Amino acid sequence: MKGMIIKNMSFKVGHTLTIVGVPTPDASNFAVNIGPDEQEITMHINPRFNAHGDENAVVCNSYQGGNWCEEHREGGFPFQQGEEFKIIIEFTPTEFLVTLSDGSTIHFPNRIGAEKYSFINFDGDVRIRNVEIK
Ligand code: GAL
Repeated sequence: MKGMIIKNMSFKVGHTLTIVGVPTPDASNFAVNIGPDEQEITMHINPRFNAHGDENAVVCNSYQGGNWCEEHREGGFPFQQGEEFKIIIEFTPTEFLVTLSDGSTIHFPNRIGAEKYSFINFDGDVRIRNVEIK
């Protein structure tokens, strides 16, 4: 993992994680990765302006046992290069409910199944302005 890493987070069922950031002016894509450690990702949120064959799509997945699992595409694409965005992630007992700036949502299962995650990593073409857990 590269980019900004928070290793001692306490993101638990019932919490809401809000991320505010700005994609770089020439961003191709960036990712928010939430997991139990540096090796596993229970939720990868990857807004792609133009990357891996996608244009203006948010691709979600998990990374378990050294492999990417099944991709999940949902929600709109309210991201613009150089423009501030907000991503809200509610950790419910059954899933991660992600709300994007246009009000569109992504429902992603908690595939690893833990009730608490400690790691969040921000990768790619983005500057993070604020991270808040409530
Ligand atoms: C891959 C990409 C990874 C990740 C994954 C999600 O193509 O290289 O960074 O986004 O897709 O399924």
